[in-house]
Amino acid sequence: MTTISLEHVTKTFDRSNALESKTVVAVDDVSLKIASGDVLAILGPSGCGKSTLLRLVAGIFKPDAGRVLYDDVNLQDIPIRDRGVGMVFQEGALVPHWEARRSVGFFLELRKREQEIPEKLRQISKITGIGLDTLLARRPGQLSGGEQQRVGIARALSRDMRVLLFDEPFANLDAKYRAEARVELKRLLNAFPVTSIYVTHDQIEAIALSHRIAVMKEGKIEQVGTFQQLHDNPINLFVATFIGTPPMNLFRGHIENGAWHGENFGGYPVRKDLADGTKVTAGIRPEAIHLSDEGTYGVVEQVMPFFAERHHLITVHLAGEQWSLMAPLDRMVEVGSTIRCAFDPAGLLFFDTKTGQRIG
Ligand SMILES: Nc1ncnc2c1ncn2[C@@H]1O[C@H](COP(=O)(O)OP(=O)(O)OP(=O)(O)O)[C@@H](O)[C@H]1O
Ligand SMILES: [Mg+2]
Repeated sequence: MTTISLEHVTKTFDRSNALESKTVVAVDDVSLKIASGDVLAILGPSGCGKSTLLRLVAGIFKPDAGRVLYDDVNLQDIPIRDRGVGMVFQEGALVPHWEARRSVGFFLELRKREQEIPEKLRQISKITGIGLDTLLARRPGQLSGGEQQRVGIARALSRDMRVLLFDEPFANLDAKYRAEARVELKRLLNAFPVTSIYVTHDQIEAIALSHRIAVMKEGKIEQVGTFQQLHDNPINLFVATFIGTPPMNLFRGHIENGAWHGENFGGYPVRKDLADGTKVTAGIRPEAIHLSDEGTYGVVEQVMPFFAERHHLITVHLAGEQWSLMAPLDRMVEVGSTIRCAFDPAGLLFFDTKTGQRIG
């Protein structure tokens, strides 16, 4: 297996037209290490550079600056045929008039190793599950989106692979199939341990499939960690609000005498070295707020059931602010009614409002 390293990798695109000259920094000085056999998810909003980063790791793009290494060897110095990159795209990218069997076997056919194809197909069928046997005789037009992706993954596995890269492979599938495909891929990654990068903007998928998650924004990696680390200890406002559903509650405020004061409530102690008047945003996760008979009164503005979690998401107007919190489904809550809520101040996170950096 292979360790993937990125060292200060930058990739820009020229977007000049007749009216203006413009360059876009799609990947901006990114350094990352993915240990052999690990699965790293790259999670970030549309346009933040995820696909570009993946293509740099695949060797499809060459970095403008910095290096991509497979086991300490610069990718640029590894002949293409020895790189062992399997890649699965959002669009199946299968050849339309080929049977799936041929798509999967093509790598070996190209290398005049046809005799290995039946055994390889048998292995892959076994690993990917029963479906593949029947799927292999069909052409892409005869396969659903999900089936095409399965064949795409099988094809990636048919190579002598060192790394396996996924670019939102299930983005076009409906929710039910996406959940099934996720389970299947997880099983596959367990059975076939390989260093892998999984690009997605779905955090459920990132949590389910990866060991660690890298949160990306505007070409930069903001933070890398397990979901729990990112959730509990985000380094800035972007990660804090991007990770976790429903998103964290945020309240503007400032520092006075070593305590945070919001516009409508406050008095919570913070780091001693912050000057009076410093603008600080406080955050608290909806899960950290609970209904309590001793809590503050608020009026319910909206109730949204989350059946899978057995909770409602409740929006409440309380202490002059809007809050969202989770309450058990069996607890009846009506719009317009009054409820009492409380939270443990230990659950508050503080961020410098100007820079977004976490300060407590
Ligand atoms: N071949 C290209 N030529 C010019 N600009 C490009 C090219 N590929 C990507 N870009 C630009 O680089 C930036 C990053 O694009 P990229 O496709 O990597 O984002 P992404 O995170 O994968 O987005 P999405 O989630 O929508 O797939 C965007 O501003 C995009 O417009
Ligand atoms: Mg993309």
